[in-house]
Parts: sequence; C-alpha cells; structure tokens
Amino acid sequence: MSRDSSLPVLVHADCLDWLPSLPEASAQLIVADPPYFRVQLDTPWDNVWPDERAYLDWSVRWLQAAARVLRPDGLLYLFGQPGKREQAFLRLMPLACTVLAFHDLIVWDRVVGANERRDSFTPCYEMILVLRGGEGPPYFDKDAVREPYDSETIAIYLRDKRYKDADARRAHLAKGKFATNLWRIPSLKGMSSEKVGHPSQKPIALIERIILSGSRAGDLVIDPFLGSGSTAVVAARHRRRFAGCDSHAPYVEMARKRIESTGEEASASGCRGG
Ligand SMILES: C[S@@+](CC[C@H](N)C(=O)[O-])C[C@H]1O[C@@H](n2cnc3c(N)ncnc32)[C@H](O)[C@@H]1O
Repeated sequence: MSRDSSLPVLVHADCLDWLPSLPEASAQLIVADPPYFRVQLDTPWDNVWPDERAYLDWSVRWLQAAARVLRPDGLLYLFGQPGKREQAFLRLMPLACTVLAFHDLIVWDRVVGANERRDSFTPCYEMILVLRGGEGPPYFDKDAVREPYDSETIAIYLRDKRYKDADARRAHLAKGKFATNLWRIPSLKGMSSEKVGHPSQKPIALIERIILSGSRAGDLVIDPFLGSGSTAVVAARHRRRFAGCDSHAPYVEMARKRIESTGEEASASGCRGG
C-alpha cells in the first residue's frame, strides 16, 4: 500500500502474490474481471491453463485470497462470459458461491453483439456475479445509481389522477428510477475515445455504477485484474482509495498513464506503479 493512502496503488504482480499482502477485511469493494478461460483466444493471459479444471482451481484460489481482504459489509463483483467454445463461467458461478455468499447476478447488455457465430444468436451480454463478504446486508447506495425517466414516461405519470400533488410527483420523478439488474451499457467499440488498447477494457459507465453504489468516498476499492485501469480511473474520479494489480507489466503502465491523463482529480492524487 502507498504511504499516502489517497494515492491509487498500481502493482505489477500476480494476484495470488499480491492479495495476501493486503490487510484483512480492508476492502469495501472488489471489482474482479479475471481471465475468462479461452474466450479471448489471441491473448496469452486467457490461455495459460491446460484445461478447465486447472482454471477453476486457480479461480477458487484467488477468490479465497480476495475473500480474506473483503469487509463483511463489502461486495465482490465477478465478471464473466461464456464463450462460443468454453463455458467455464457457468461452472465457476456455483464454485464462487461456495467461497462467498451469492448476492446478485447482473446481466450486462453490451448493446451491440459480437458477431462471432453463425450457428446461434449473436452473443450480446456478459454476466456479473455479485458476492457479499458477510451474512448481513452489504453497504449499498441504491439512490446513487438511479436512472432518469424518459420524458414520455414522466408525462404519463404526471397525467395519473391518483397523485394529487403534481409538484411532489414531479420532484419524485426527477430523482429517477431504481436501476434493475439488467444493465444496458454499450461496450467500447473500435472508434470509442475511451479505448486505450486493452482487448477487454470495460466502459467507465459500467464500473461507475458498481463503485457509486458499493462504496463511499474514502473507502478502499481493489481490482486484482487491473488491465487498462478502468476501475482505478473511476475510483480516482470519485475519491475512493484504490489498489490493484496486473501480472502483465505493460498493462500496469497503460493504467498508470491513463490515470495521469484522466483529469484533475486523478492527476492531483497521483499514482504509483508497482
Ligand atoms: C479481462 S482483463 C481485465 C480488463 C480490465 N477490467 C479493463 O477494464 O481493462 C484481465 C486482466 O487480468 C490480467 N491477469 C491475468 N492473470 C493474472 C494474474 N494471475 N494476476 C493478475 N492479473 C492477471 C491480464 O493481464 C488482464 O489484463
């Protein structure tokens, strides 16, 4: 961890070495977007296990290491997607629920499908399994991630005669509606200005929803599979403390540069490589 606890900490390390170095029950939120197992065929990091059994064993080991670090009122978000060839995530989900308790399963609608198969429907979603650190309810700010009503819906609701106080009704509608666990957020396409060159870079809007609902300013958010640093960028933007690692040094450097260039809050708080 850095000496100044407000600085994002970016470490070049294997997560199995790095997670045990963190204090027990220190993270409010863990955002984990691990290798999927043979879904990204042209990346070395998704193809290192000889078979699915080895991948699942490794997954349980890092999940156990992450569980030690998670606060009892914290949440761990685990990204996964079944690919055309491999469906390891379907087997990983029940195993992960033996390490930490099931909390939710989010479906992320990526809006535009990945046109990789002709023998079935075009894949267009990913799943995000949400696990919790303890038996009790986790910290969760549902109001922080409300979604605006569209103008047509607002007009219909305002015509509803059951609500006598139109101003109160308008104020209520202006707050927006609670987000469901079906998230329609476009994935990053080739021309997206957000893209920095990582093959599975997650959109800021997606990570923002997780961080705003699952942590407060000053809380520690960690990401054991840093990649391009999407979680680090959002954490810095919203004044969360952040620590993360990646086993591939160029990605740590990519994340470091990205944090430095993402505006005043990040550059003001600085960042460290591992
Ligand atoms: C799916 S990507 C994460 C992408 C990231 N969420 C983003 O938005 O850019 C998975 C990352 O895990 C890293 N990785 C693979 N094995 C690892 C390990 N054992 N420890 C730490 N990082 C690892 C890879 O280098 C890769 O960058």
